[in-house]
Amino acid sequence: MPWLMAAHIGSLALWCAGLFLLPGLFAAHAGVEDPAAFKRLRTMSRFTYIAIASPGAVLTIVSGTALVAVSDLLGDWLVLKLTLVTAMTGFHVYCGRLLRLLGMHPGLRAPRWLRLLTLVPALLVPLVLWTVLDKPALLARAV
Ligand code: HEM
Repeated sequence: MPWLMAAHIGSLALWCAGLFLLPGLFAAHAGVEDPAAFKRLRTMSRFTYIAIASPGAVLTIVSGTALVAVSDLLGDWLVLKLTLVTAMTGFHVYCGRLLRLLGMHPGLRAPRWLRLLTLVPALLVPLVLWTVLDKPALLARAV
């Protein structure tokens, strides 16, 4: 089903974009003194989480589950992929927690540490892509 695959890829692009943007936005919290600038930063961070990353996550998971339902592509690659997707979901939830806490305590975490969080999606996203794109090899190794 090409339209389902298009929905899956489109929504995962949204989800990944959100997860890559959030650590940088979080890191900016500590240095902003001006209340108006802080309000703008909060609006951008909340928009990225609520309007980009979260709908992207929900649509990716719904469309991915629908793809599993309409295909007979079960196998080790899917178990591996779902494990990595669970880790992405855990990171997503952690970003939601940071978003709330940084609104109350902007200096809660060192900016350098928050920027380093970018490494989490930078590692997970290519690994998820590898499980899908190298699926034939993964299936061959499983039998
Ligand atoms: C619960 C979550 C997910 C499920 C159940 C799921 C399941 C699937 C299934 C069954 C396919 C079809 C494979 C095929 O027909 O060859 C697919 C395609 C794909 N998925 Fe997911 N997926 C999920 C999340 C993700 C995430 C988070 C990413 C990327 C970060 C991703 C990337 C892709 C890509 C790039 C394709 C297209 C692969 C191709 O054209 O060969 N998926 N997914």
